[in-house]
Amino acid sequence: MENNKRPENMERITTTALAEKFIEEQVTELRGQIGNKKVLLALSGGVDSSVVAALLIKAIGKQLVCVHVNHGLLRKGEPEQVVEVFRNQMDANLIYVDAIDRFLDKLAGVSDPETKRKIIGKEFIEVFADEAKKLDGIEFLAQGTIYPDILESDGVKAHHNVGGLPEDLQFELVEPVKLLYKDEVRVVGKTLGLPDEMVYRQPFPGPGLGVRCTGAITRDRLEALRESDAILREEFAAAGLEGKVWQYFTVVPDYKSTGIKDNKRTFEWPAIIRAVNSIDATSASIEEIPYALLGKITNRILAEVPGINRVLYDLSPKPVATIEWE
Ligand code: XMP
Repeated sequence: MENNKRPENMERITTTALAEKFIEEQVTELRGQIGNKKVLLALSGGVDSSVVAALLIKAIGKQLVCVHVNHGLLRKGEPEQVVEVFRNQMDANLIYVDAIDRFLDKLAGVSDPETKRKIIGKEFIEVFADEAKKLDGIEFLAQGTIYPDILESDGVKAHHNVGGLPEDLQFELVEPVKLLYKDEVRVVGKTLGLPDEMVYRQPFPGPGLGVRCTGAITRDRLEALRESDAILREEFAAAGLEGKVWQYFTVVPDYKSTGIKDNKRTFEWPAIIRAVNSIDATSASIEEIPYALLGKITNRILAEVPGINRVLYDLSPKPVATIEWE
């Protein structure tokens, strides 16, 4: 890849004014590069692909075709938000692909974490390629590569990795934020009018909830995970912890224990709360959640989420534990 080095004198984008200047320059450059051709983008709803989408919508409008693949492993409300923001508010050309059954059928009975990751990655490329084949006249592929991706790897990030597209589907790459750091991407996204929940959201792994529904994923346990995670996020937001804690989520392991509900014995899963602080994910410390908040979250999960009869709080830093459970 050429032009992959950030110039030493490049000013850090910290203000709206600087972001506006960057956006203006990029819009001109993108229009020059793309002309009247079409661009394809896998839009996950994460910060980077969302900012790239917003930039391209500004530059070329409906010449951008966004494909949002719902693999069934997204958090509660995420696919709806992508449709609302990009199709309804920004009037984007958005193809929504409901691939939930396709992914969950392929993952059924698979318990090895790395095999699960491989299946999710491979299936994602296949679903995306299937959609790309249906489209005519696409010449460019946009990607939300950011500068740390270039510094850390060969410039292709795991969760956006559509670089593995088949031979007959090779496009010229468009990577408008590839020289920006994450904080700069956020300022650009905010300036482009993206909602705060999208711009300031916590890191979310490419395989999504798949690595938090440990072992072989089942639909009922995945649903318990999605609901308990939504309660945790809602309560963190209400307590003002959103944006303060680096990453927080629940895990629902493939393990049951006994409980008692309405005078009957139950045999159900635990939900595990994970809330960590980190700078670059290589190490992580535990956020000290106020006890009353932990109690509130616990009571809500036990009352509202079918299949859960116990709530635990993971106190393990990284190292020795990793952030995710798989
Ligand atoms: P661990 O669990 O290794 O996670 O401490 C460190 C950070 O990486 C995220 N993570 C992933 N991100 N694909 C991704 O895009 C993955 O397969 C993956 N596994 C872990 C994790 O959420 C944390 O922020």
